[in-house]
Amino acid sequence: ALAAEAASRGAKVTLVTTVGLPAPRAADVVRVETAAEMDDAVRAVASGADVVVMAAAVADFRPTRVAERKLKKHDGVPEIVLEPTTDILAALGERKQPGQVLVGFAAETERLREHAAAKLAAKRVDLMVANDVSAPDAGFEVDTNRAVLLDSTGSAEETPLLEKRELAGIILDRIVRLLGKEA
Ligand code: CTP
Repeated sequence: ALAAEAASRGAKVTLVTTVGLPAPRAADVVRVETAAEMDDAVRAVASGADVVVMAAAVADFRPTRVAERKLKKHDGVPEIVLEPTTDILAALGERKQPGQVLVGFAAETERLREHAAAKLAAKRVDLMVANDVSAPDAGFEVDTNRAVLLDSTGSAEETPLLEKRELAGIILDRIVRLLGKEA
């Protein structure tokens, strides 16, 4: 919805996604599968972008070892050791281009504003879209969402339950305002 809304407003959009949903025709689409592939793809385009929106729910951990062949049941219950993936958004925050607007999403199930505000500061983003992903009508797998929009001034705006395309419009309006300030 964000890519479609940005493209319809005339932005040149690159959509990096793991999701097979139809993409807006005007967008360049880069399909990836893993957090590492997403990191590479985002890195390749972010330095030339005025705006980066990280809406993906990226896996935080990956197995340290990938089996080369099928694990046999008679070998017993395998121990799966995990290691952290790169935090793509935090890395973008560290090397933010002057004037670039960085937007993050915060998926929370409790203490929404507090956790989202902490992420906004830690990842040095300009706008954080916080959503309660435990609500059945918001977040993953549904076409609606409600969000709290937090910015670095400490302001918080709560939206009602909206179609995702409508929420995308509100997020894009905020991005346009932030771009005006950065210019
Ligand atoms: N994110 C990212 N790379 C990761 C994990 C998260 O770029 N490896 C980004 C998401 O795209 C989102 C923001 O960071 O814009 C917050 O993601 P979220 O899953 O809410 O939080 P985490 O930072 O992973 O923290 P936690 O899981 O502890 O809540």
